[in-house]
Amino acid sequence: MQLDRDDERILAGEQGETKQKMLELIVALGKVFGAERLVPIRSAQVSGASYKTIGEYGLQWLASLDAKAVVPAVLNPIGMPRGRWEEMGVDPVFAQKQQAVVAAYERLGIALECTCTPYYLRETSFGDHLAWSESSAVSYANSVIGARTNREGGPGALAAAIVGKTPCYGLHLEEKRKPQIIVRVEADTRNWDIAHYGALGYHAGKLVGNRIPFFSGLESATPERLKGLGAATAATGAVALYHVEGVTPEAAKGLFDLSGLEVINVETGEVERLFKEIPVDAVAVGCPHCSPLELEEIAGLLRGKVVTMPFYVFASQGVIDRNQKTVDQIEKSGARVFADTCMVVSPVMEQYEAIMVNSGKALAYVPDMCAAVARIGTIAECVNVATE
Ligand code: F3S
Repeated sequence: MQLDRDDERILAGEQGETKQKMLELIVALGKVFGAERLVPIRSAQVSGASYKTIGEYGLQWLASLDAKAVVPAVLNPIGMPRGRWEEMGVDPVFAQKQQAVVAAYERLGIALECTCTPYYLRETSFGDHLAWSESSAVSYANSVIGARTNREGGPGALAAAIVGKTPCYGLHLEEKRKPQIIVRVEADTRNWDIAHYGALGYHAGKLVGNRIPFFSGLESATPERLKGLGAATAATGAVALYHVEGVTPEAAKGLFDLSGLEVINVETGEVERLFKEIPVDAVAVGCPHCSPLELEEIAGLLRGKVVTMPFYVFASQGVIDRNQKTVDQIEKSGARVFADTCMVVSPVMEQYEAIMVNSGKALAYVPDMCAAVARIGTIAECVNVATE
């Protein structure tokens, strides 16, 4: 693998042991995946942030590191809202451990914006090379923005943040970004909302596995709906990049040769069968974290209503701060808008038997991660159920 003089110095230990080890990790990963060189990155997003998922071993490893990120880097959601963990009912022992994890990342120069939607906080542009690790963020960056990132593991993304480079293979290369299978949606999608896109992704992800799908027939795609689609296909499949005919930036150029690709048809019933009316004892939306537009929609639907069961809304602290009035409106109903965490990585959600979500990704993860039944519905249905 080609390395420059700076890289050689780092490998010789001239910038400290942690940076040396981080570059060794990057080079080893690059060799495994056949990378010929490293590519400088514009930003990193680091998973492995919730104490619920990394545990004591992960915390000790982080605490042993001594280096600083050299590119803007953010954390993935953690197990609690940093400022409101007591209000959310987080166990103090867990909170103390989680704070130690956060402090370790802060020492490494990782910004404490704990979110899977870093693109709402910092500009990310077409063609940017990134080292992001949360699967929905990776999917959004690649597909909706047209930036370039592989789905990094937590240590790989952290190493890239500290070195400022990542191995150049896979989705960093133009020729590896072509569609590999066509998903033809044979449904009237004009009135579909985020939940339908999430349910489509939940279904399609199982069919396409780790191939790059090219969706056709989606007539109501918006960035928020695509966010839901990508999060779900990444959860039930291993999709880090998808294209939508005429919509996503690389597909909109119309340059893909689709001849000879396998075609899968998805019909209305296959999506709608996922919308089951089962009783729930909590509602949670914001997977991935809400955009300002989603917060506005939720506020509008909750106006003049009072929730009759716990209603969680998840968004990044940055989005909350910039939309405080909307957040206040939502909270007037009794719903709570929490930053930094989500229904999957917070241990608080394990107290519920059945959770209603508007996300295909949460539909896939809640059963295993929260030991609860998951029900999917539109945001309007979520509000209806929570206020009836
Ligand atoms: Fe984000 Fe948590 Fe969903 S990390 S994509 S809100 S599972």
